[in-house]
Amino acid sequence: MSGGLLGAEAAPRPSGFLKRILVTGGAGFIASHVVVSLVEKYPNYMIINLDKLDYCASLKNLEIVSEKQNYKFVQGDICETSFIKELFETEKIDIVLHFAAQTHVGEHYLSFWRKLEFNYVNVYGTYILVGAAYAANVEKFIYVSTDEVYGGSCDKEFDESSPKQPTNPYATSKAAAECFVQSYWERYQFPVVITRSSNVYGPHQFPEKVIPKFIALLQQNRKCCIHGSGLQRRNFLYASDVAEAFLTIMKKGQPGEIYNIGSNFEMSIVQLAKELIHLIKNTSSEAETEYWMDYVKDRPTNDFGYPMNYGKMYSLGWRPKVPWKEGIKKTIEWYQDNFHNWKNAEKALEPFPIAEETV
Ligand SMILES: NC(=O)c1ccc[n+]([C@@H]2O[C@H](COP(=O)([O-])OP(=O)(O)OC[C@H]3O[C@@H](n4cnc5c(N)ncnc54)[C@H](O)[C@@H]3O)[C@@H](O)[C@H]2O)c1
Repeated sequence: MSGGLLGAEAAPRPSGFLKRILVTGGAGFIASHVVVSLVEKYPNYMIINLDKLDYCASLKNLEIVSEKQNYKFVQGDICETSFIKELFETEKIDIVLHFAAQTHVGEHYLSFWRKLEFNYVNVYGTYILVGAAYAANVEKFIYVSTDEVYGGSCDKEFDESSPKQPTNPYATSKAAAECFVQSYWERYQFPVVITRSSNVYGPHQFPEKVIPKFIALLQQNRKCCIHGSGLQRRNFLYASDVAEAFLTIMKKGQPGEIYNIGSNFEMSIVQLAKELIHLIKNTSSEAETEYWMDYVKDRPTNDFGYPMNYGKMYSLGWRPKVPWKEGIKKTIEWYQDNFHNWKNAEKALEPFPIAEETV
């Protein structure tokens, strides 16, 4: 293993940077916020963003740092073994934050229809990456997983020791990838850290996901489409709070540990739709609010909620800071001006027939 973690006392490396951080999936939603934070807060670190630029990615998410000396973008695929091996050899990576994944559970990019691709990228890609990181002796490998691996509950609170019981192909692939990553700790004491985060919202998210989708639909005078009863509950965290959580994990997360990144702020999908209608349509009339909601057939499985205990993250000193009212206002304003940051954004809003699940 290389030297101590992120020590300010460490001598500068030949490149002039104290550390070299690889962030995968950095042109996507959450990791773009993490990349921007890292570049701005750690001018002595070189931040390398590896992304294949899939349909949900946008380099516009990174315009603010694209000219910085300590930032570099590499287009490439985590599933390409020789490319990944060479990347570790040439870039001399110290720390990996692995976000890249196929992430959309429902509708257009349906994990139920594209199980093979979800497993290929999320499981095989992670297997390639963690193996290459181990061979390159990196000092910390952070794997970004999800609360969805717990499988959903209406009352029981999950902590990090709760069993993984995923119910959809996306969550299953994330859980399987966790097992690969964890095995490098069990077998080699390779310093991996796993995070499981609640739903994240904020600027930069491709509008296939519920919050930007509802916002964009309402901004275009179209109705919010609600899967099933809409009573499923979700906990939401603002993107900058989650970026801060990853910086905390990078500095203080302990090898071999899992951390829930959660909040006690939760609401049902129907409540969410109503709140967005009130804010965007400027109405509190119940009849008018109902008018903007369209109920459609539910997807094959739709967990009731993922209440999590996040005391372990609090013990590292992290706290979410952005209240919902402030975060959602900023998010609505951002989509007003930036919806067309993705060339296929319009397609994400189209209704999509729910087909039978493939086996
Ligand atoms: N969005 C959430 O609310 C949430 C919650 C919990 C966990 N997560 C996890 O956080 C991570 C990021 O989620 P997100 O919502 O920001 O995702 P996203 O879909 O916005 O971005 C994923 C990024 O990964 C890239 N990518 C996909 N396949 C790749 C490959 N083979 N090689 C290189 N790059 C590839 C894409 O181009 C894209 O930029 C994921 O691992 C996800 O499971 C997300």
